[in-house]
Amino acid sequence: MEGSVNRGKRRFLLGATTAVGTVGVIASAVPFGMSFWPSERAKSAGVPVDVDISKLERGQKINVEWRGKVVWVIHRTKEMLDGLPKLDSKLADPKSAIDHQPPYAKNEYRSIKPEIFVAVGICTHLGCSPTFRPEIAPSDLGADWLGGFFCPCHQSKFDLAGRVYKGVPAPTNLVIPPYRFLSDTRIVVGEDIKAA
Ligand code: FES
Repeated sequence: MEGSVNRGKRRFLLGATTAVGTVGVIASAVPFGMSFWPSERAKSAGVPVDVDISKLERGQKINVEWRGKVVWVIHRTKEMLDGLPKLDSKLADPKSAIDHQPPYAKNEYRSIKPEIFVAVGICTHLGCSPTFRPEIAPSDLGADWLGGFFCPCHQSKFDLAGRVYKGVPAPTNLVIPPYRFLSDTRIVVGEDIKAA
């Protein structure tokens, strides 16, 4: 009985977000700064959001909305991943000791699969939206910048795993939401691995 209820609930959740995933396919064909948004029903219910990442190319980011928040999904390149361990000494919480991620994302990449990064795109200082800055050593961020996120409000910096730099206003790493993979090309934001 309980199993049939769960299956029914699951069908509802997937049905409620199917249209969102379809829009995501279209949006992900455009590099950087892409967005797509779930239905009003999905937003108000805070239901999990089904995201199609089949067209998300290496180095690209898409934005989705979950519970009224922007969530980034980024396909990190090998170079991006290789740079992460080099930054540990510059970071306030390089090992993610503070619980700003589910247990399955408490690792050096802060993700389930190293190449796919999912994070709430809200600065942990006062809630601005940091800018995705994947370039290496841009003139405004310095020669040792290996890519990351820069908050324009008060200049907080985060690396490409959402880990906050030392000496900036933001006190903690970016938040990683619950999510899981439905397949290699689809994820659900807002649903834990345990719920599978
Ligand atoms: S809100 Fe991001 S640094 Fe202040």
